[in-house]
Amino acid sequence: MLPVASADLPGALPVAATAVAILAVAILFSRRRSTGGAPAAAPGQGGKPIPSPYPLWSDLALDVTVKGDFPDAVKQHAQFGPVFWWRFLGRRLLMVGDYEASMRLLKGEHTIVEADYPPSVQHLVGKWGIANLASKQHMRIKRLVQAAFTPKAIRGYMPRMQAMAEEAVHKWTAQGDILAYNEMKWYTFRVAVSVIAGFDDSWTRPGPDGFEHVNALFKDWLDGLFSFPIAIPGTAFARGMKARGGLMQRINASLDLLEQQTQEKGQKGEAPTGQEAEEQAEQPTALDLLLASRDEEGKGLTREQICDNVLVMLFAGHDTSATSLTRIFHFLHLHPEAAERLRQEQAEVLAKHGAELTEEALADMPYTEGVIREVLRIKPIIAGFPRVALTDFELAGHTIPKGTRMQCSLAQPLLTDARWAGEADPLQFRPERWLDGAAHRTGAWIPFGGGPRLCLGWLLAMAEMKVLLAVVFRGHKMTVHHPDSPWALFPLARPKDGMPARLQAVRQQ
Ligand code: HEM
Repeated sequence: MLPVASADLPGALPVAATAVAILAVAILFSRRRSTGGAPAAAPGQGGKPIPSPYPLWSDLALDVTVKGDFPDAVKQHAQFGPVFWWRFLGRRLLMVGDYEASMRLLKGEHTIVEADYPPSVQHLVGKWGIANLASKQHMRIKRLVQAAFTPKAIRGYMPRMQAMAEEAVHKWTAQGDILAYNEMKWYTFRVAVSVIAGFDDSWTRPGPDGFEHVNALFKDWLDGLFSFPIAIPGTAFARGMKARGGLMQRINASLDLLEQQTQEKGQKGEAPTGQEAEEQAEQPTALDLLLASRDEEGKGLTREQICDNVLVMLFAGHDTSATSLTRIFHFLHLHPEAAERLRQEQAEVLAKHGAELTEEALADMPYTEGVIREVLRIKPIIAGFPRVALTDFELAGHTIPKGTRMQCSLAQPLLTDARWAGEADPLQFRPERWLDGAAHRTGAWIPFGGGPRLCLGWLLAMAEMKVLLAVVFRGHKMTVHHPDSPWALFPLARPKDGMPARLQAVRQQ
C-alpha cells in the first residue's frame, strides 16, 4: 500500500542542491526513536558486525533524489548479505532482504516491530489513518472494515466490477490512443470509490471537476508522501498537504451529503439507521462499517478518524492496482505468446461459464491468475516496508537493538528466496510456473505483505485485475507504443510517459 521512498523531482542540479540541503537539515533534526549516530558496524551474535558498505554521504535519499531510482535491493543484498546498514534522511536504516527475516518482521508486527512511516507520511495520511495506527487501534480499524473485503463481499461486487470494466474497455476502444496508466487509475478508482465509500459519481466522472481533479490531487499527495516534512511553499510536501486539504474537503462534502440523504430517508420512514442499517444493508461499504462502529461505551468514530481512513483506503485501493495492471499490459505486450494463451483461456471460460464473470468463472482462470501472480512477483508494486524494533531481538544471526529502524524488502524474497531458486529460471516471466502447483509452496509469494498488516484489499485487487483482463482479452488487444520507455520507481512505480497505448477490437476465433 504505502511504498517507502522519496519523491521524484525534475531537474538534476537544483535537485541535487535541494537534496544536499534537505539531507543536512534532516540529519540535524531527524532523531525520533533514533538508534543515534552510532558507528555503522553494529555487533551481531558472536561479535560479527553487520556490513555497512556506504559512508554517511551516500545517503539512500540522496541516491534516490539524484538518480530518481531506488538502488537495486536484490543486487545490494547479493553483495552484502541479508542485512546491512544504510542511511535514509539522516536515519540509520537496517536493510533486511531475506525471506525468513522478512516473514519474522511481518508476523512480529505489534510484538517485536511496528510500522514506522516517516513524518511526511504521518502528516499526509493523517494520524488516524490505518497505516499510522499501532497495536490495538490498528487492529480495531482493520477488524471493522475487513467485512467489506471478504470473498463473500467481493462476490457481491462482481457485477459492478464487470460493468465498470466493460465501460472502460468501450471508452478506450472508442478513444483510440490512450495513456494506459491514467486509464487504469480511472478504472481502479471507480471500483475503489464504489466498494470503499459508495460516494456519488462527482469523484469519478470524466472532466476537470471530476476524476481529473481527484487524480491531480492524489498525484500531488503521493509526490509529497516521502518528502521533507516542512511545508515551505513550492516544496513537494507543501503541495502534498494542500492536496490533502482538497481531498479532505471532498470527503467531508460527500459525507455531509450522505448524512443528509440518510436523514431525509429516515424522516420519510424509508431508511433504518445505525446498527440496524448495517445488519440490513445487503453489502455495506467500508465507510458504512466505519460509520456504524461503536466501542464498549457506545461511542462512534469521530469525523476525523473516518476521513483519515477513507483517504488512505481510497489511495491504497486504486493506485497500487492501477500500477499492477499497467505492468501486466506492458508484460503482455512484450510476451505475445502469453497474451495469446490468456486469450485462449478466456475463450474457453466464456464457452463454459457464459459472459457473466462469476466467482466460479474467475476461479477457472489459472493462466490469467498466473500472469498476474508472475508480474507481481517479478515487479512487486511495494518493494518493501518500514519497521522499527519495539524490543531487542535476534534477526538473521544478529542482535537487533530496540529502536532500530528497518527497511524490509518484499522484492528480494520474491525473486531470490530458495523456493524460487529451486526453479530453472527464477528471474524470468513464466506464468505457466503457476499452473503445476510447484510455485504454491507455502509463503513463497508475498507481494501483499503478511501478518497483521497483510494488505486489506488483496482479494479485491486480484478480482478487479482478473475482471479487467477477462473483459479485454475477450475480443480486444492492447498495443503499447513505446515499450522501452523508462519507469520511475518512486514513490510508486509508474511509466514516466504514462504508457501510450492503443486498445483495438480483434476478431475472436
Ligand atoms: C496490486 C495491488 C496491491 C498491492 C500490491 C498491495 C500491497 C500492499 C502491501 C505490501 C501492504 C503491506 C504494507 C506493510 O506491511 O506495511 C498493503 C497494505 C494495505 N493495503 Fe494493499 N495492496 C494492493 C491493493 C490494495 C487495495 C485494492 C486496497 C483496498 C482497500 C488496499 C488497502 C491496503 C490497506 C488499507 C493496507 C494497510 C493495512 C494495514 O496497515 O494493516 N490495498 N498493501
